[in-house]
Amino acid sequence: MSERYGVLFVCLGNICRSPLAKGVFMHAAEREGVIDRLRIDSCGTGAWHAGGPADPRTISVALRHGICFDHVARQIRPADLENFDLLIPMDAKNHRDVLAMGAPPERVRLMRAFDESIGVKPPPDVPDPYLGEGDGFEDVYQMIDRACRGLMKHVLEHAPG
Ligand code: 4NP
Repeated sequence: MSERYGVLFVCLGNICRSPLAKGVFMHAAEREGVIDRLRIDSCGTGAWHAGGPADPRTISVALRHGICFDHVARQIRPADLENFDLLIPMDAKNHRDVLAMGAPPERVRLMRAFDESIGVKPPPDVPDPYLGEGDGFEDVYQMIDRACRGLMKHVLEHAPG
């Protein structure tokens, strides 16, 4: 484990939800002046898009909210389970898959568990927008943005420095 507090966002394809979460959270960390205390990354449980860019709709919604990021998709690897302090799956299936790989359960927290406006457990999914219609990407952005506020509080309490 490095000195920096490691946060890994996990979805299925690593082209929609988790790259957006990484972009939103990095933006928030820069604004808070804590980016140097953190190591933030994203990955997918699947390998279909590995080596490729983010979905164009992900890039568009991020830009609409003033967030610009580079991205090369990658699949989760066993070392990730050791190398990050917090593994954050976007939905219940990603959550099950990460645990099935052997991730320590105490380091795995669903994304929307950090949304303080949600009072139910387990929290709902950040739904996969890939095949959805309408403005699924904007909805996903709003869910991620709300969760990132709670996540920032958590990280500021736990990150060294
Ligand atoms: P993501 O969305 O998990 O949020 O990146 C998906 C992207 C691609 C696929 C599934 C989900 N796919 O099946 O190709």
